[in-house]
Amino acid sequence: MAQDKENGTIQGDYFVIKAKENGVHVIGLTRGHDTRFHHTEKLDKGEVMIAQFTEHTSAVKIRGKAVVMTRYGTVETDE
Ligand code: TRP
Repeated sequence: MAQDKENGTIQGDYFVIKAKENGVHVIGLTRGHDTRFHHTEKLDKGEVMIAQFTEHTSAVKIRGKAVVMTRYGTVETDE
């Protein structure tokens, strides 16, 4: 994951998740050889999470009804 040498910020993409029901899970998966869950964030209906891909997080799994916005477009999970 690229890091800005001047200010130390991580240059990973941001993404937005908006929960369309209670109990949506946003699960971060570790970067590198060992791919495992490292964090689960629970969102309730209407809650929004803005997050980034980082040196620790290379993938994200979303469980539940949600809208996910990335630089590649917007997707909705199916029921
Ligand atoms: N400590 C995590 C990290 O820096 C926090 C995090 C960033 C995260 N993006 C995430 C957790 C996406 C879950 C999902 O990588």
